[in-house]
Amino acid sequence: MGELIELCPAEALADGGPGVRFAVSVGGQPASGFVVRFRGQVRGYLNRCAHVAMELDWQPGMFFDADGEYLICATHGALYDPGSGACAGGPCAGRGALRALEVVERDGRVWWRPDAYVEAPRGD
Ligand code: FES
Repeated sequence: MGELIELCPAEALADGGPGVRFAVSVGGQPASGFVVRFRGQVRGYLNRCAHVAMELDWQPGMFFDADGEYLICATHGALYDPGSGACAGGPCAGRGALRALEVVERDGRVWWRPDAYVEAPRGD
């Protein structure tokens, strides 16, 4: 188990509002993750669409659809359940889900625990 990494203040995440991106490493390659708040809970995912391996947000941090009900990929409109990451419609249908990250809200901050696949960014 990796150490918790601090991401942002808890109040930075409004329910259904903009998310916070952060740097990660997948297989030694730079990538990004993000956290959002949905129905009170903080959720974190690898920022990689299940349709094509692209980041979801064209405008940094804009992960929700207009109604704040789904996470949406800006490229072709894949929809994801913010609570589970499961594909909920669009071209990702039948292709699984966003890769969930372990995130916790504690002491007024939001933290991420890297895992064996989505690791802390490599410093150099
Ligand atoms: S790359 Fe995300 S919907 Fe196609």
